[in-house]
Amino acid sequence: MLKVRDLAIRFAGRSASEAGTLAVDGIDLDLDRAQVLALIGESGSGKSATMLALAGLLPKSAKTTGSVLLDDRSILHLDEREKSTVRGRRIGMIFQDPGGSLNPVLTVGDQIDEVVRTHRRLDRRAARAETVSLLSRVGIGDPAARARAYPHQLSGGLKQRVAIAAALAAQPTVILADEPTTALDATVQAQILDLLVNLVQVEHVALLLVTHDLAVAAAVADRIAVMYAGKIVERRGPEQLVTDPGHPYSRALGQAALPFVAAGDGRHAALPELPGRMAEAGGTACAFAPRCPLAIDRCRAQVPPVVPFGDGEAACFRAGETAQ
Ligand SMILES: Nc1ncnc2c1ncn2[C@@H]1O[C@H](COP(=O)(O)OP(=O)(O)OP(=O)(O)O)[C@@H](O)[C@H]1O
Ligand SMILES: [Mg+2]
Repeated sequence: MLKVRDLAIRFAGRSASEAGTLAVDGIDLDLDRAQVLALIGESGSGKSATMLALAGLLPKSAKTTGSVLLDDRSILHLDEREKSTVRGRRIGMIFQDPGGSLNPVLTVGDQIDEVVRTHRRLDRRAARAETVSLLSRVGIGDPAARARAYPHQLSGGLKQRVAIAAALAAQPTVILADEPTTALDATVQAQILDLLVNLVQVEHVALLLVTHDLAVAAAVADRIAVMYAGKIVERRGPEQLVTDPGHPYSRALGQAALPFVAAGDGRHAALPELPGRMAEAGGTACAFAPRCPLAIDRCRAQVPPVVPFGDGEAACFRAGETAQ
């Protein structure tokens, strides 16, 4: 349903002579209804840039190439009007900071009413009834009363539930969630993840979930894509990715996350501290080679192609090998 091909995103440099930053370097993604695809990887690897591109929210300074098809319709380069209908209607987005997406001077009910009414011809009463139903579907108790609250009167977890309700209000087919639980307390994190996964089944939407955390991804995703320096370096089912990673970067992530994955409750695993910094995207070698225990001359001379591996694929000349 959502089909991304060779998507690249470059942020402009400060001057015309500056090349700018290549944030995403030609990625493919496929996502179907009622499916969860997790996007994990190093900070700065291009996860948020990818999400913003799909939502049509990149700043003007960013140039995108490649294609994004939603139900066979190209949505990457739309004019502003088409963009607001597609983005608002078909794609909902949830951010890390739930407060950020809510208007502090409106009650949460008024905000969701507004979304409901922009997308469906409903009068005030019918819109409010729909809002209350949405708040109830995202697990908010006493939804009619809560609809009259202002965002600051709600806890972080409740605010994120409201943000999810607002995203659902337009009846989207895809929900993009960029680290939706990172800013929340540990117990609330698990509840919000449960809610999202549940909604995927009940509302039959597709969820693209960005997380730093392999344990979280393994607990909830049907497929996991691992990003490093603007590329997807591995794409697998969660079980195989954890037990039999193809890419050494996935292996490093997996080792750090293993105890948490075993617990199976979506608890957070700290991102492993790999020595050195991530290489810039768009190089002529494997971007992971400088930090890779398995790197050989070839890795420093050529970009490894994506090859089939296990139940998915990996971009590594030594896929599946381990350091002795
Ligand atoms: N508005 C921007 N202008 C210029 N460069 C940007 C902008 N936003 C992101 N970048 C650059 O694009 C690259 C990818 O950033 P992105 O935010 O997508 O990473 P990320 O994977 O979401 O990281 P994190 O895990 O820290 O959220 C980085 O090099 C970043 O510095
Ligand atoms: Mg990000």
